[in-house]
Amino acid sequence: MNNLKEQIDPQRLPNHVAIIMDGNGRWAMQQGMERTFGHENGVTSVREAAEAAAEIGIKYLTLYAFSTENWKRPADEVDALMNLLVKTIHSETHTLQKNNIRLKAIGDLGSLRPETRDELFKAIDTTSSNSGMTLILALSYSARWEITEAVKKIAKKVQNNTLRTEEISSSTISDNLTTAGIPDPELLIRTSGEYRISNFLLWQIAYAELYFTSKLWPDFRREDLYEALIDFQSRERRFGQTSLQIKKDQTAN
Ligand code: IPE
Ligand code: IPE
Ligand code: MG
Repeated sequence: MNNLKEQIDPQRLPNHVAIIMDGNGRWAMQQGMERTFGHENGVTSVREAAEAAAEIGIKYLTLYAFSTENWKRPADEVDALMNLLVKTIHSETHTLQKNNIRLKAIGDLGSLRPETRDELFKAIDTTSSNSGMTLILALSYSARWEITEAVKKIAKKVQNNTLRTEEISSSTISDNLTTAGIPDPELLIRTSGEYRISNFLLWQIAYAELYFTSKLWPDFRREDLYEALIDFQSRERRFGQTSLQIKKDQTAN
């Protein structure tokens, strides 16, 4: 079958898809270009993935755009990435509006430059009443930073006597992460053939299905998202139970 989209069951879509967009630098180097050329070309892939996900009915799409550790890259690459971010958020706001997409951001946003933050908050504000998909940009994000911040918030509540230690549950932790209120990703995609998580959503992906593709991010197109969704739908998600239990539950429903 060549129409990949038709192979996707709209009733069994993951609620939340997260993507580690990797391989921009290698994509550019392969063509004898500067790494930043790869970042610039990755913007088309972001647009394709976001439009395709919104159109198919995915409710949440989280894109890992810049990690806490990425600040350690050479200053000129960090500069180029931050400038690209400002430019892209500005020029793509109409794409978000057109597709009824609401923008959100997670990460240590206070560490971003004022002009990046301003552009970001402007786009978040402009798109805040859109009711289609929520697009979450992970910027200056790392899961260990996020979990550390959550621990501090929880500790303060205990200190202020607004929370008792015995009351701390798994949902207390979820509710104090930057993703509070957002369902956990059910599908995590990583491009570029690397098989690692690189400090992304460690708590939230406890039961996510992982999908790795060797495609470099600037080559990622809607069909690649469709392939990942088809693969997701072929999996049996057992959550610790046996296959027989899962099949029984399915027939009961
Ligand atoms: C992903 O591509 C984009 C960011 C991390 C900002 P890379 O820049 O990591 O590209 P590779 O992995 O070096 O090819
Ligand atoms: C992960 O990619 C971060 C983003 C995609 C933003 P990296 O390229 O930074 O990850 P490592 O260094 O290969 O693990
Ligand atoms: Mg990389």
